[in-house]
Formats: sequence, structure tokens, C-alpha cells
Amino acid sequence: MSRLLSGEKKAHLIQAANLLRSGGIVALPTETVYGLAANALDESAVKQVFAVKGRPLLDPLIVHVLDQSHAETLAVFNEDARKLSDSFWPGPLTLVLPKKKCVPDLVTAGQATVALRCPAHPIMHAVLELSGLALAAPSANPFGYISPTQAQHVQDSLGEQIDIILDGGSCEHGLESTILSLADPAHPRLLRPGPIDCEALEHCLGREIEVFTGNTDDSAAQLAPGMLSRHYSPRTPLSLAVSPRAAVNLHSGQRYALLYLCKPTDSDLLQNPQAAFFWCTESCDLRDAAHHLFALLRKLDNLGFDQIIAEIAPSSGIGIALNNRLSRAAAKTSLLMGR
Ligand code: TXA
Ligand code: MG
Repeated sequence: MSRLLSGEKKAHLIQAANLLRSGGIVALPTETVYGLAANALDESAVKQVFAVKGRPLLDPLIVHVLDQSHAETLAVFNEDARKLSDSFWPGPLTLVLPKKKCVPDLVTAGQATVALRCPAHPIMHAVLELSGLALAAPSANPFGYISPTQAQHVQDSLGEQIDIILDGGSCEHGLESTILSLADPAHPRLLRPGPIDCEALEHCLGREIEVFTGNTDDSAAQLAPGMLSRHYSPRTPLSLAVSPRAAVNLHSGQRYALLYLCKPTDSDLLQNPQAAFFWCTESCDLRDAAHHLFALLRKLDNLGFDQIIAEIAPSSGIGIALNNRLSRAAAKTSLLMGR
């Protein structure tokens, strides 16, 4: 059984760093979601991460580093990579770059590139500094389930298998990092939308970025690992609608959870015995909705509804990342329904 330790205490940070140095695994907060970390250069430690998550070995891990010079020991940086890391690190941007030999093939699923990120969260930063390690860390959820944004989420689903979980409260962004591939220097490619939007990256580079639009089937996953269809899925079937209330089928006999990003207007909140209303935030701030989304999805998944109908976000800014996660959460349902 894991020990849930306060990440505020220096002694706990040292304990976690020591465990990592001796080949163990630790769950800890970042500014995006909680990660499950191991020494990236220790293959047997990294194997434990794949095993605990039940993650297929074809899906490579993000390696977390202290700063840009640490990153340059693991990957080859070009001018674009330097511009981006100068502007957005530490922060929720992952760069996919040509890897150096020292990075084990296990971490990169045999690819010639490695995904690197320099996180801004003070607890993650402290553990990177105290351990002196590069840390391979996927989100700390069972493969295919919703990413954890609170220490308790990690405890609930993986607690039996992790020795230390550092508690740092709830994660600021609540969605995983933006992933940009610079594997082909002539064509920067957005692989996963996230808290840093594409326009900000384009502005920094002074040119356009290609957006990966492959559908989330498993052949696309071969092209761009991590784009597997069954990501972020609750067990409860989930579908998407511009107006969740209007999408309720009154004759189905099902119990619906209607998930709004922002609190709906009073006229939307019409009584309906078959449907219960939930919203991520009382405000109309979509970044705040993102901060709360995964926790609310986990909660709804445990309330025994037959179906969740989630509101589609406006397709700009953080709304693009929200819609990406929601459509992946809905992918399982679409597959089941043969759509
Ligand atoms: O915010 C985040 O990025 C969080 C925190 C913990 O840092 N981590 C995270 O890791 O979301 P994970 O493993 O759940 O998602 C990493 C994604 C996967 O979809 C993986 O396939 C992709 O990054 N990835 C890793 N290495 C890659 C590479 N060399 N080329 C393309 N995609 C890669
Ligand atoms: Mg993940």
C-alpha cells in the first residue's frame, strides 16, 4: 500500500528522490496532471512504470528534465527547439526531438526521437533537483483511464502498486501538456493540443505549425504514438453535444449525467427526472473548466449513470484541448455503438 505524503515537506521530497535513485517509482504532481516517475536511464525502473500502468510498450514516455541544459544531454536541439524552450520552459510544453544514445529504447518505444518536458511545478522541480535524474513520467492513471489531477485519484486507482505518492493538491492546468514534434525540422507538428495553444507556438517560431489530424484509430497510433483511441475514457458511455440537454432521449429510460463546462443558464436547467446537471465551473472561464474537468469525470463515473453527455467547447484556445480530451473519452462509446 502506498504512503500518501505531503509534498510540502523537504524530508518527503528527499525520501522520494532517494527512492527514485535506488530504482523505485514515485507518483507526484506536475502543473498539468500527476505523473508516475522513474529514472529515465534505468530500464528496470522504467519497466515498472509500464507494468503498473498496464501500458503497451509501443507507447513511449515523456522524459522530464530540470532545465534546457539537462535536456540537451538527452536530445539534439536545433534553433527552433531553443526558441521554444526559452519561451515556454518551465511549463506545459513537451518537445519531441532526435534522441541521444543514452536514452534507452524502452523509453522511446524504439523510436529515434524522445519527448522532453521541463515542468514548472515546485514539487516536481524539487524532486528533479534533489535526485539529479531525468524522470520518465507518464500520467499516473491505469492505461486508457482518465488522467489524475489530485493525489487521491492516484491512490484510488494505483495506490496498491506505488510506494510513495507525493500530494501537491490539485493540478493547475488539469490537462496534459501540449506536444510538439520537431522530429522533421522543416515541419513542426502539433501531436497533442494542450494548455499552450498552437497560435502561441506559431508566434514564437514565426511560422505555421502542422496539426496532426489523424483519427484516433490504432493505425494512426503507429504513426504518432499516444494517439491511441481509448484515452481518457470513463467506464460510463460518454457522448458529446453542443447542447447536452437537447441531446437527452426522453424515451430511452436511461439515467443521464449532463456535463457542462461552464454553469448553464437558468433556462437550460429545466427539470428533467431522467437527467442530472453538472458543471466544471461556476465561472465562464474555460481554463477553470479544464482545471476541474477530469476530477468531475471521475466523480460522474462513480455515480452509476447510464450515460454522460458532455458539452462541446468552442473550438479555440484551450477549447481545442478540451474537445480533444472529450472526444477521446467518447471514442470508446463510438466504437461500441459501431460509429
Ligand atoms: O502533461 C503531461 O505531459 C503529463 C505529465 C505527467 O508530464 N504526462 C503525460 O504523459 O501526459 P503520457 O505518457 O500520459 O502521455 C505522453 C504522450 C503519449 O501519448 C506518448 O505516446 C507521447 O506522449 N510520446 C512520448 N514520446 C513520444 C515520441 N518520441 N514521439 C511521439 N509521441 C511521443
Ligand atoms: Mg496519459
